Amino acid sequence: MDAVQFGQHPPAQRVIVHLSDTHLMAGNAPLGGVYDTAANLTAALTAVERTGIRPHALVFTGDLTDLGEPEAYAALRSAVEPFAERLGAPVVWVAGNHDERPALREGLLSGAPTPEPVTGVWDLQGLRLISLDSSVPGWHHGDLDQSQLDWLREVLAEPAPLGTILALHHPPLPSHLPLFDILELRHQDALADVIAGSDVRGILAGHLHYSMTGTFAGVPVSVAAATCYTMNLQRPAVAVNGMDAGQSFHLVHVYDDTITSTVVPVVEAPTGEYFTAEWVAAMARLTPDERLEAFSRKR
Ligand SMILES: [Fe+2]
Ligand SMILES: [Fe+2]
Repeated sequence: MDAVQFGQHPPAQRVIVHLSDTHLMAGNAPLGGVYDTAANLTAALTAVERTGIRPHALVFTGDLTDLGEPEAYAALRSAVEPFAERLGAPVVWVAGNHDERPALREGLLSGAPTPEPVTGVWDLQGLRLISLDSSVPGWHHGDLDQSQLDWLREVLAEPAPLGTILALHHPPLPSHLPLFDILELRHQDALADVIAGSDVRGILAGHLHYSMTGTFAGVPVSVAAATCYTMNLQRPAVAVNGMDAGQSFHLVHVYDDTITSTVVPVVEAPTGEYFTAEWVAAMARLTPDERLEAFSRKR
């Protein structure tokens, strides 16, 4: 059924599915000898499709492959492209520290295997999405060089009708895990300077392998966990390691006046059947007062 409005906010204007850190390996070799990254990606894509959402874009915020192998990019492309086609959504590939720019360009973008940053601008029916490349060839920490910042400043000089969302791999936020502060996005002040006063409304990132939110220069930042493996945060920060559980993706709903980021766990579990499309349709036939009476009043 079409979107209904039972509350104060009109339905979201745009919806983005945000996935991260697929870390595919050539020949689907187990990552770290443990993780089946292809199977875990398939599980995540299946879960996205189950939502029934027709997103305006699918954004993968980096570490698309673990070692930058051409065969891994090919496997990723053949898993995601038919899926994106079914959903009718463009795919935004963001480079991460585990990626190799030339192989990413050739394997996912059908471009020449050149080493310059992988950036792009998408017009999602008035919502602008800008992908940045925070990878530093040869290193795992992140950075944005002056020419990329200058480019970003130039693009942002002209505002978009529904504002702008940035996507990059390394989040411009601290992590409570010491290991990630070594691999942080460096020179964050320079990025803050560029987005100050611009129409940037949200920042999507990955890299941490766990979901996290914060603000950067007044802009909300949403970090999606990984599809491959996640960090077991039940441990003390100094002893956090990966586990084959807790994978999730985010639904980013862009409203008139706010953006929400909803974490969707990729999990199989017995689920109730009380709320249905028919139930919502029945609610839609009631007046707002009748709806409160029918569903809000305590019995
Ligand atoms: Fe990663
Ligand atoms: Fe990363």
